[in-house]
Parts: sequence; structure tokens; C-alpha cells
Amino acid sequence: MIVLGIETSCDETAAALVADDRHVLSNIVLSQIEEHRPYLGVVPEIAARSHLDHLDRLIARTLGDARCGWNDIAGIAATAGPGLIGGVLVGLTTAKAIALARNLPLIAVNHLEAHALTARLTDGVDFPYLLLLVSGGHCQLLAVEGVGRFRPYGGTVDDAAGEAFDKTAALLRLGYPGGPAVEAAAQRGDPARFDLPRPMAGRPGCDFSFSGLKTAVRHAVAALPGGTAGADDAADLAAAFQEAVADVLADRTRNAISRFRADFPAGTRLIVAGGVAANAQIRRVLADTAAQHGLDFVAPPAALCTDNAAMVAWAGLERLQAGLIDGLDVAARPRWPLAALTAAPGATR
Ligand code: KG4
Ligand code: ZN
Repeated sequence: MIVLGIETSCDETAAALVADDRHVLSNIVLSQIEEHRPYLGVVPEIAARSHLDHLDRLIARTLGDARCGWNDIAGIAATAGPGLIGGVLVGLTTAKAIALARNLPLIAVNHLEAHALTARLTDGVDFPYLLLLVSGGHCQLLAVEGVGRFRPYGGTVDDAAGEAFDKTAALLRLGYPGGPAVEAAAQRGDPARFDLPRPMAGRPGCDFSFSGLKTAVRHAVAALPGGTAGADDAADLAAAFQEAVADVLADRTRNAISRFRADFPAGTRLIVAGGVAANAQIRRVLADTAAQHGLDFVAPPAALCTDNAAMVAWAGLERLQAGLIDGLDVAARPRWPLAALTAAPGATR
């Protein structure tokens, strides 16, 4: 069984074909980074227009790469939210048009569920598992019990971790997108030169806060001679910032492991997903944390941690197999928390 996935919720236009034996037949991601770079962030209107300009040819290329025709495809999955609504509408409406024209089932995929299920595509992991989802828009710890079945343990009270990376990169003038730029600068830096806070660390619970950390970076820059960071200052601050984020993620994850252990004694895995999971230091620290608590650690390859359509196709495939398909009237949603998903096997949402 092969499913076509479409992803347009942010600044990547992506299409992929994935089979139920976990084979990715084709996976194309078209980044809009150059279009947004002058603005140091994603401009929703530019993103939506760019998705519209590229999506149909991208889907044709995806089919061509995999040497697939429409008759080989069992369903069309598209991100229906959460995300920038203009872009989500482009992808979802395209999926609806194909589903209608080809008489194929439509699966409206929650972008967060797609990140959450990626480790089942890449590593075939079984439910339940503990998930740290860290991306540009989201930062949460939850138990994943099944398709559409999530138990939240904590989330951010202000910025997401990826957002903190992006804002810190802007403060340090490291360029855009921020996460990879901070990681590259941190490799040249000394994390011990600046003493940054670890917000929430040591407190009970599994919530995060990153806005204070970003403010601490701003104050550290203001205290430098001339009030700006030179290349060495920026590298040292990037290293200190990245280490602080990694420490906080590990601290909060330790508390979540205790809760997961109590709720699911049979669970054996910690999974990390989302764009920030592409960061090598964060992966290392989380792997150590998992090992200290006797859990296996799984991080999908970086290219499947950042936004892509293979994860959307896979989530669609799992839903299709469970009988969870959607009508052509399904709405695009700017907000769509995981807790709002339905799961009943065999039921239609
Ligand atoms: O999952 P994703 O591609 O899009 C969202 O759903 O948000 O995540 C993008 C976020 C951005 O904030 C980006 O700066 C961050 O992931 N990111 C990273 C790295 N690569 C991407 N953060 C830290 N280190 C990286 N290497
Ligand atoms: Zn994402």
C-alpha cells in the first residue's frame, strides 16, 4: 500500500510517496529559505504563494521519481494543521482535488502527529513510547500510546525551543534559519565564557520556558563593549545558549521519564522529533539521559526531523490502515492540539 503525502504548513513545499513496508519511494523537499531570508523569518503570504507556484510540479516529480502512476496509490495525505493557514489551504485543497478526481481516500494529517509517528517509519518502534517534540512552533513531552492517542506531560509556557534558537541567531546576527546557524557557531565557541540560566530546571513537572534564556542572551550582548557581539562573542554565546537548551531539555525529560515509567511500565523508548532534534549536541545529551534511565533512544535522521512529506505520508498511511479517513469537507486548521485528535480504530472522524 502506497500513500502520497503533501506538506505545506510552513516554509517547506514537500511531497513524498511511502509504502506500508516503511519504504520511502520518493521524498522531495523544496525549501523557501531564500525567499524569506531578507525578513529573518517566514512571511506567511510569501510562503502560501510559493507553495501554490511549486506544488503541482513537485507532486508530478515525486510520482516520476518513484515510477508510480495514480493507480498505484491507495490514499492522499496532506497536513491539515496546525500551521500557517494560507499554506495549509494550498496543500489540503490540492489533496482534496486529487482525491476527488482520482476517487482516492483523503487523510487530513495533523503535522504534530506526523512528527510524532516518524520514528515508526524510520525505526519501526512499537507503542507506547515517550516523545520529546521540539520544533519551531512546538515544545512538548508526551506519551504516544497509539495513532491519535497521546498523553501530554508538559509543554512550553512561552517560546518553543526552535523559536528560541531562531531569535538567538537573530540577536547574534548569525543569519537565518537560526537553528543550524547557532549549531555551526557553537562548534567554534567556548560554552563556559557566559553563564546563562536554565529556566525551569530542577522544578517539578515537565513544562518548559525559553523566553528568559533568550532575554539573558540579549543582556549578555548589551553588556559587551560597544553593545554588539563580534564573531568570537557570538560563537561563545551560541555555545552557552545551546548547552543551556540541552540541559533544560534533559532536565524536563528526566521528570517525564518518571511519569512515563509509572504510566507505562512496559514502555522502553525515548524518541525525539521535530526540527530541533537535528541538533547533534541535543541528540547526544538526550541519548545520555535515556541511557541513564535504562531507556532506548531513537532520533530519526536529521532530514526526517525537519519538515518533510514522508512523515505526512506515513501518518496518513497509519490512519488509512486504521480506517481513519476524512471527508472532502474537512477544514484546514491554524491550531490543532494533539489532544483534539480522534483515535477509535475503524471509526471515521
Ligand atoms: O519541525 P520544523 O522543521 O518546523 C516546525 O514544525 O516548526 O522545525 C524548525 C525549527 C526551527 O526553529 C529551526 O531553527 C530548528 O527547528 N532547527 C534547529 C536545527 N535545525 C533546525 N535547531 C537547532 N539545531 C539545529 N541543527
Ligand atoms: Zn514541523
